[in-house]
Order: sequence, then C-alpha cells, then structure tokens
Amino acid sequence: MKGTSKRCVRIPFPSDLPALPPLPRKNFLVVAHRARSDARFPLDDLCGASGRWDGLVRCITATLLISHGIRKDSAVHLVLNGPGDPPRTITVLGGEVKLLNPDERSTASLMRKALERPPPAMPSVLWAGHGIYVSRLGLGDILGSWNTATVLLDEKGLDASSEPAVLLPLDGTAPSLYILSDDQDLLPEESDLLRAHGVRPVSLTGTVLHSYQAITVCHFLLDRAGRAP
Ligand SMILES: C[S@@+](CC[C@H](N)C(=O)[O-])C[C@H]1O[C@@H](n2cnc3c(N)ncnc32)[C@H](O)[C@@H]1O
Repeated sequence: MKGTSKRCVRIPFPSDLPALPPLPRKNFLVVAHRARSDARFPLDDLCGASGRWDGLVRCITATLLISHGIRKDSAVHLVLNGPGDPPRTITVLGGEVKLLNPDERSTASLMRKALERPPPAMPSVLWAGHGIYVSRLGLGDILGSWNTATVLLDEKGLDASSEPAVLLPLDGTAPSLYILSDDQDLLPEESDLLRAHGVRPVSLTGTVLHSYQAITVCHFLLDRAGRAP
C-alpha cells in the first residue's frame, strides 16, 4: 500500500542475546569431560577424534525426540569442558528447536555449526539457530544462578524406580534440572560442587546405564508418574 512500508524484524544469525530464555519444566544437563568445545571435530569420527560427541548427540535426541514429535516441555544442556574453548554450554530448547532429526550425523552437524563462533562473555548468550543457544556457563555458574529443583542422576544414589517422587524434589514451581555425567565419572571437584549446593544423588535402576539411556528411563518414570515436574 502506498505510504506504508512493511517492516520485517529478523534476528540476524548468529546473534548475541542478554540471557537464555526461560527454562522449560524438564531440563537434562550433561557434564561432558572430553567432547570438543569448539567446532573443530569431524562428523565422520564422533566417537573418536570428536571426544565422544556420539554420546552427547544421543543425549540430545533422548531428551527431545519422541516418535513423530518433540518434547516441548524439555531442554538439554551440554556443559562442554573438553579441548578447544571450554567451558561452553549448548542449550537446546524443545519448544523452539527446528530441524532436529533422529540421525546422529545431522544433529552433530547442528551442534558443530552452533560452536563455530565463540559465545559472548557472560551473562550474554549466543543465539545459534532456532532453540539453540551457546554460553560461557560452566557447572558452577549454573548451580549458582539457575532457580531449579536439581538432582544428580547417579547409579549409587537414592532409588527412584519404586519412588518416582524423589525425582520431583520441590513443590513443582521451579523447573527441574537432572544432572548427568558423560561416559566418565564426575571429577572430585564437580562432585564437591554438587554437594556444596545440596544436590542429592538419585538412582534410576540398579544397572549402570549410558547417559542417554538414563535420560530415557528418567522420562519414562516421569511420564509414568503422570505429572510433569
Ligand atoms: C556411563 S555412566 C558414567 C560412568 C559410570 N559411573 C561407570 O562406572 O561406567 C553415565 C551417567 O549416566 C547416569 N547414570 C547411569 N546409570 C544410572 C542409574 N542407574 N541411575 C541414575 N543415573 C545413572 C549418571 O549420571 C552417570 O554418570
């Protein structure tokens, strides 16, 4: 129409934002000890030269994908302490993410793209695509600043299989945060940090699982309990 101009507001990619968007109800955080924290990893060798990015990619799909859909009430946070440029945390929000497929290679490629540009200094975060954010947060920053009901998923913890209520630790007003380690045990200083923040260990089964399997079992117990945390 003459005299009016159509204004299209677009967020340039990639771009810095002042903070992460609000967290959804269910959050899974994986502490990664050796996965590369920059974009310099080969998609053809996710379990070798990439530092076990294969396991992290499975954590993303276990957290967010269901058959023909996405768990919009969930997010996954990968705290990358491996070589490259640590710490960096990639957050993927189920309510916003697009182009997430079950195959490992395409998800790894999305993550690698997100890591191409270093994130800004805290508290800003890099918007690296729909639902994908990269920050400088480390585990201690997260424990010190996020208002979440937090438990550590740990095979030696309090048994949740018969009592799922231990997975729903507070009154349900704060988002829940489930912390896992990658294929290695937590470092002593990470365990100390969790203890200092009063985070209790909770076990899902008597069997030691891969992190992505533990996420699936946790979802199962929460789904079965019939109430979102
Ligand atoms: C492969 S395990 C870590 C190494 C493991 N401690 C081992 O001895 O092989 C990966 C992570 O998944 C989670 N996990 C595995 N089994 C679990 C269980 N039965 N209950 C709760 N969390 C579990 C924990 O967060 C654990 O650190």
